Amino acid sequence: MIGRLNHVAIAVRDLARAAELYRDVLGAAVSAPIAQAEHGVTTVFVALPNTKIELIAPFGDDSPIAKFLDRMPDGGIHHVCYEVDDIAAARDALRARGARVLGDGAPKIGAHGKPVLFLHPKDFCGTLIELEQA
Ligand code: CO
Repeated sequence: MIGRLNHVAIAVRDLARAAELYRDVLGAAVSAPIAQAEHGVTTVFVALPNTKIELIAPFGDDSPIAKFLDRMPDGGIHHVCYEVDDIAAARDALRARGARVLGDGAPKIGAHGKPVLFLHPKDFCGTLIELEQA
């Protein structure tokens, strides 16, 4: 069912410093920061030859990543995103297999303008999974 690894998201407190690390120390191409008010994060995209890294920092007062950063003050891997061909079909199949889909199960438009869903980390080895329609 799942296809390509679309991105790995790394939550950070200091987005400028994280972008600098990826650009100047690791030598990667990084985007300018993009505020995503509707998702409560600001994102820097790091382009790698085979996938992307998304550096995400809290935007606004009730960011969905605030609690994560309270637990992980140095930052850390927040989620991995896998592509699926048909997000509604993937959701239904996963539910039939006992997996929990977060929220009301209706796909939302994610950071790349495509429908996304999140799966409960307790059902997947402690890792929050994002599914994105390819
Ligand atoms: Co993501």
